[in-house]
Amino acid sequence: MKRTRYILLLLLLSAANIHLSMTAWAEDGHSLWLRMAAGDNPQVTGPACTATSELRQYWQGGQLELKKTRGYGDEDYTIACQDGKTTVMASTDAGLLYGAFRLLRMQQTGADMSRFNISSSPAYSLRLLNHWDNPNGTVERGFAGHSIFWPSVNDDILLLYARANASIGINGTVLNNVNAKPQALATENLQQVKHIADILRPYHIRVYLSVNFASPIHVGGLKTADPLDKEVRAWWKKKADEIYKLVPDFGGFLVKANSEGEPGPCDFGRSHADGANMMADALKPHKGIVMWRAFVYNPQDKDRAKQAYNEFMPLDGQFRPNVILQVKNGPVDFQPREPYSPLFTALQKTPMAAELQVTQEYLGAANHLVFLAPMWREFFDEIGVRSEESEVNKARQLLTPNSSLLTAVAGVANIGNDTNWCGHDFAQANWYALGRLAWDPSLKSETIADEWLRQTFTNDEHFVKPMTQLMVQSRETCVSYMMPLGLHHIFAGGHHYGPEPWYTEPGIRPDWTPAYYHRADAEGLGFDRTKNGTDAVSQYPAEVCSQLNDINSCPEKYLAWFHHVPWQHRMHSGRTFWDELCYKYAEGVSGARQMLAQWDAMKQYVDEERFNDIQRRLRIQARDAEWWRDACLLYFQQFSKLPIPQGIEHPVHNLDEMMQFKIRISMYENPVRGYTK
Ligand code: GCU
Repeated sequence: MKRTRYILLLLLLSAANIHLSMTAWAEDGHSLWLRMAAGDNPQVTGPACTATSELRQYWQGGQLELKKTRGYGDEDYTIACQDGKTTVMASTDAGLLYGAFRLLRMQQTGADMSRFNISSSPAYSLRLLNHWDNPNGTVERGFAGHSIFWPSVNDDILLLYARANASIGINGTVLNNVNAKPQALATENLQQVKHIADILRPYHIRVYLSVNFASPIHVGGLKTADPLDKEVRAWWKKKADEIYKLVPDFGGFLVKANSEGEPGPCDFGRSHADGANMMADALKPHKGIVMWRAFVYNPQDKDRAKQAYNEFMPLDGQFRPNVILQVKNGPVDFQPREPYSPLFTALQKTPMAAELQVTQEYLGAANHLVFLAPMWREFFDEIGVRSEESEVNKARQLLTPNSSLLTAVAGVANIGNDTNWCGHDFAQANWYALGRLAWDPSLKSETIADEWLRQTFTNDEHFVKPMTQLMVQSRETCVSYMMPLGLHHIFAGGHHYGPEPWYTEPGIRPDWTPAYYHRADAEGLGFDRTKNGTDAVSQYPAEVCSQLNDINSCPEKYLAWFHHVPWQHRMHSGRTFWDELCYKYAEGVSGARQMLAQWDAMKQYVDEERFNDIQRRLRIQARDAEWWRDACLLYFQQFSKLPIPQGIEHPVHNLDEMMQFKIRISMYENPVRGYTK
C-alpha cells in the first residue's frame, strides 16, 4: 500500500514537473513583444517610479541612472550613453517611463548600445485605444475572445495590458463600446472604472468612457436628454463630479450621437455642437475632454461619403476648446482602402482625432495577416504628414493651414481575452503599430515591422528580413484580393468578412447594400463622385479635387471610388479597366499564397505552437482570397460581358456556388474557418 502511494506521489510530482517545464517553454503569444527576462539590476538608480522599477527588472546592461530635470515637455525624454554610463532624463515620471521603454526596445532589438544620444517627444498628445466592449463581455467587431474589462477583470492581465501600452506610448483607453449602454455611467459601474484606473495609472494611462446621450433619461430618470435643458445639464455636471471623485485623472467622454440609431442632440432639435458643448461644460472644471465622433450618415442622402463633412463643416468654430472631433480616417467606414476623410483638410478651427481601426472588421478578422501600418502611413501621407524616420514631429505638416488641429490618434482595439490577446499572432503587430505611429507618424512601416518581429520572435536576420517584407506587402495583397482599384463596401450581408457584391434584401437601406457602392452596369463599375456625379471631390482642397475629378489623373487605386469607370477605360499599364481588375484579383490570390509559402520556410525560426497557428490562419487567408476573386470577378463579369484575360489563373468556382455560400457569424466572433464548402 505504502509503495503504491509512493509511486503515485512520484507520478504526480513528475506530472507537475512536466507541466511546469511546459509552461516555462510554452509559447502561446501571451507575452506580446515584452519578452525580457526579469531580474534585479543593482546598477540602476533613479527616483521611485515605474520607470525605475521597469529598468531594475529588465535592464541587462551596466550603470544606468534615471534623472528628473526641468526643461522637458510632459512626455518627452532623452536617453544617452557615454563612457559606459546610460542616462534617462525627463521632467516627469511619464517621460522617464517612455525613455525606459525606449531603452528596453533597443536592448531587445539588438541595437548598438555603446554610444547614443536620443531625444524624443510625441507628435500627438492623446494616443488612445478605443475598446468596443459591452457590459456583458462581448466585443463588437472583436475577434479575440471576450472583453478584458467587463463584466470582471483579472488584475494580472490588466497590468500586462498597461505595460504593453506604455511600451508603445499609448496614454489613454476608452473602456467600453461607442454604442454605449446607459449603464456605463451607473454608480456600480464607476466602481469598476476606478479599479481599472488604479491599475493603469502607474503606467500613465488614463481611462475614458463612451457615454450614451440619453443617459439622463435611462440612468437619471429625467424626462428628456435635451442638452439645453437645465436639469439635464445639472445631471451631467453631477455625474462628472461623481466620476472625478473616484477617478481624479479621468480622461473624459467619447460620444457616438445620432449615428446608426444611437440617441443624440438632434433628437431634441439641437445640433451636435449643442450636445458636445453641454458635456464639455460638465467636464471642464475637472480638465476632462469630449471626443465627439463625426461618424454620421443617413439613408436619404445621395452619397454617404459626403455626409460627415456636410454635417460638421457648418459647426466649425462652434465647439468648446475641450471638444475634439473624432473622425475616421476615410469618409465611409474603415474599408481596406479609402481616400482620407476631407474633414481633415477642411476644418479650420476644430481639434481632431484620427480614428483608425486596429481590429480587422473589414480586413479578414483574426484570420488574415494584414499589417496595417502601410494603410495608416498612406493616410498620414495624404493629409500631409511626411514619412521619414524622425525622432520628433518636425516632419509634421498638414495640408490644413492650422497644422496643430490634429491632436489625437485613437485606434479601435483588437484586444480580447484570448491567450495571445489578438487572435492572430500577427494582429499584435497592429496594436504595436498604432502606438508607434501615434507617437511618431513619420515612422516607416518597415521600421515598425522590423522592431516588432525582433521583439516578438527573434533577431535572426534570416527571419526578420523576409518577414518584414511580407508584413509590409500584406496590406496591398489584401486590397488586391478584396477590393482593388477603388472598390469598397462589397461585403456580405450580416458580416464584414467575405464578399457578396450581389447582397440585398427586400426593404433594406440602399446604403447598406454593395450595389450602392459598386454601381456595376453594362457601361462600367464604380461610384461617380466627380463634379458630374455627387461632387464629393469638391470637399477636397482645390488641387486634390481637380486631380481626383479627372479620370486620367485620379490615382488608379481610387478610380472606382471617384468614377464610374468604363470597362474599356485604358489604364496606365495599357490594359483595359476590366483586364486590370482581373489582374489585380489574380495578384491578390498569388500574394496570399506566397505569404503561406514564405511562412512555411520560416519553420526553423519559430516555436511550434505559434508556427502552426499562424500557418493554419494563412491557409484560411489563401482560400478566402480565391473566394473573393471568384465571387467578385464572376459577378462583375455578368455586367462587363468580357472574358478573363489569358495568362492569369481563372476562377476555380462557379458563381452559383459562391452565391449559395453563407457563413453565419455575429459581430462578436471570429469566423473560424473562412471559406470552406
Ligand atoms: C461600423 C461597425 C459598427 C460600429 C460603427 C461605428 O459601422 O460595423 O459595428 O458600431 O462602425 O464606428 O460606430
